[in-house]
Amino acid sequence: MDLGTDYLGLGLRNPIIASASPLTGDVGTIRLLEDSGAGAVVLPSLFEEQIRQEELQAEMLTSIGAESSPEASSYFPAGIAYNAGPHGYLDLVARARDAVDIPIIASLNGTTEAGWVDYARLIEQAGAAALELNIYRIASDPFVTGAQAEADCVALVKAVRARVGIPLAVKLHPYFSAFGALAIQLDHAGADGLVLFNRLYQPDIDLVQLRWSNEIALSDADEIRLGLLWISLLSERLPHASLAGSTGVRTADEVIKYLLAGADAVMTTSALLRNGPEHIRSLLSGLETWLKARDLASVAAIKGLMRPPLGAKAEARERGNYVQSLMSYRGPPIRR
Ligand SMILES: Cc1cc2nc3c(=O)[nH]c(=O)nc-3n(C[C@H](O)[C@H](O)[C@H](O)COP(=O)(O)O)c2cc1C
Repeated sequence: MDLGTDYLGLGLRNPIIASASPLTGDVGTIRLLEDSGAGAVVLPSLFEEQIRQEELQAEMLTSIGAESSPEASSYFPAGIAYNAGPHGYLDLVARARDAVDIPIIASLNGTTEAGWVDYARLIEQAGAAALELNIYRIASDPFVTGAQAEADCVALVKAVRARVGIPLAVKLHPYFSAFGALAIQLDHAGADGLVLFNRLYQPDIDLVQLRWSNEIALSDADEIRLGLLWISLLSERLPHASLAGSTGVRTADEVIKYLLAGADAVMTTSALLRNGPEHIRSLLSGLETWLKARDLASVAAIKGLMRPPLGAKAEARERGNYVQSLMSYRGPPIRR
């Protein structure tokens, strides 16, 4: 059985990647992920705000009385422990690279095209096999247009691309007005892969304390659907970039669905946080069992098998699918 796949130009032994989370910030756990079969690992992100904070501290040491208090940094939680901080991060990359044979993908997380992106070069020098750029931005200023938000993403990708020679993946949320056009622009800007999708954090209101609550909820399997849709629409249609399905993998079923839609790799975090790193074994054995039951000998044989045909009628087809899904509702009889 050949489970191998190509993602970002990296030959992976199988398509299952442990995505960025506190689990991947520990070298012992990264070893366990490799032993459990992971095809690659994405380290937790190093955040733009952390790098800026460190630059600011260095500046304050060298220029007494310098007045600078960037707003972004002041909202950032101080001393986050799970990614080792800017100094420790490079060490984490190097130690992880030395500890395992699978590719180590580092992760930078930010939104602005500024000095912090120089860190990409240091990450490459530390030995990362590839870099994932997580552009997590909510364009909350109502005067920022969609075109501007997209142009900012493209400019950031170009800036990072200019600093590294290793493969570059871009992780994004889906809330752009015409995601396909953005994907093509990012491909042209030098992205070797897109990670679809980032999960937008969804704050809640605590009715007792009357305050916003930022507690993270782990994902569920039905959250793969937006990723499935866009991967199926974009797979094999980008000039260069590969695609990773991300969000909602609980069992091998979700892995298989992402591959059928056309993903080159599939990422998982919540399932590993719930069940431990060894859960990768069950994802892999489920994938193999499914392939064997259909007499299929490789992941390549199913990649994109359910991709819809290309053509001018794509939008009409999606309209049709939408109306059909509304009509498929079979709940209890509607009471009048
Ligand atoms: C506790 C936690 C920490 C995470 N940290 C990061 C991070 O540092 N960088 C990042 O790009 N994504 C981070 N993520 C997002 C995951 O990598 C992943 O994209 C998301 O959880 C959706 O995948 P899932 O449905 O398999 O959980 C984190 C998720 C969780 C639950």
